[in-house]
Amino acid sequence: MKILFLDQSGKPGGAELCLLDIAKAYRDRCLVCLFADGSFRAMLEEEQIPVKVLATSIDVQKDSSTLQGVYSIGRLIPVALEVARLSRQYDLIYANTQKALVVGALASVLSRRPLVFHLHDILSLEHFSRTNQRIAMTLANRFASVVIANSLASQSAFIAAGGQAKLTQVVYNGFNLDCYRDVASQSQPTRQALGFTDPDFVVGHFSRLAPWKGQHLLIAALTHCPESVSAILVGDALFGEGDYVTQLQQQVKDLNLEHRVRFIGFRSDVAALMAACDLVAHTSTAPEPFGRVIVEAMLCGTPVVAAAAGGAMELVADGVTGWLVAPGDPVKLATVIQQCDARPELVKEIAATARIQASQRFDLTAISRQIDRILIQVAG
Ligand code: UDP
Ligand code: GLC
Repeated sequence: MKILFLDQSGKPGGAELCLLDIAKAYRDRCLVCLFADGSFRAMLEEEQIPVKVLATSIDVQKDSSTLQGVYSIGRLIPVALEVARLSRQYDLIYANTQKALVVGALASVLSRRPLVFHLHDILSLEHFSRTNQRIAMTLANRFASVVIANSLASQSAFIAAGGQAKLTQVVYNGFNLDCYRDVASQSQPTRQALGFTDPDFVVGHFSRLAPWKGQHLLIAALTHCPESVSAILVGDALFGEGDYVTQLQQQVKDLNLEHRVRFIGFRSDVAALMAACDLVAHTSTAPEPFGRVIVEAMLCGTPVVAAAAGGAMELVADGVTGWLVAPGDPVKLATVIQQCDARPELVKEIAATARIQASQRFDLTAISRQIDRILIQVAG
């Protein structure tokens, strides 16, 4: 079975990192087409996954109006024609993002190849305009053989927005467990390299810098915590959120937290950094479709506190495998941070339970098998 993967981004967001893991299993019989160039291409190449960058000027915003939506679809046509031509050498088209769905749908009609849509988003107004939701829904309903939803939350939102339930299958992101086996040994050296000492309580936030990822809430929470609590913000503004970065830096300055908050930028050694943290905080203000960072923290054996909405509710059992706090509440977040600092034995136990459960639920080998079964069925 030969697969043509499509993804609109040249940058490594969670959907792209998920695709990277899935595509590894097909590296000798697939092509990943990107609609923009960037560091994600290099990551694919490093894994010997064939990749081709098709265009660099497609720009459909999440809040596009109907007119903009139609105009943007028009601009996708040349890309779709090229994908249709390429797809004749493949058994199926696998669209990993919304714009990839538009291109993949047109191409699948032209080349008569089946289409799989991997839905990484919650199709709600918090994330997408009504027009974009309608476009995604109509194309998925009409042209996709299967919609793989990354969580029950994404599946429910798809159905609530008019998507056909019978098309959907929920498959969680998978993680290569080998990458997390030995992380504990990296904890101390990484902590030292970051300049932290033992008594410091380090809260890590791992995410692109974007308003809905809620880094500002963790910064605000620090003002309710003792001086020994610091935060590292790991990640970059990937999709043009420069204003938010400026806003975060200003917030840190205004609150006199320069000595307690560090902006680390995008890193490829997330596991080592997570292992060096005392707690990982996930603070999304809108429902998180899945939340890779939550699972990664669990696999590292680092306790995690997450915003209680969307896919995060499926990943964390409050008080058993981590903590859930109402989204947008820095005071509650600060309470959890302080409780974790005060009760290390309980925290250790919870992190250990989370690690075992996460290894069982999100093992890449099992998840890849699940995906493979779906694709074989679709390719018929
Ligand atoms: N990530 C990374 N380097 C960073 C920050 C984040 O590699 O500096 C990774 C992180 O480990 C996770 C992904 O980016 O695998 C983010 O995925 P998630 O599902 O948490 O959120 P998304 O950005 O996709 O909404
Ligand atoms: C998207 C979602 C994120 C999810 C990732 C992988 O980027 O925002 O929640 O974890 O896809 O499915």
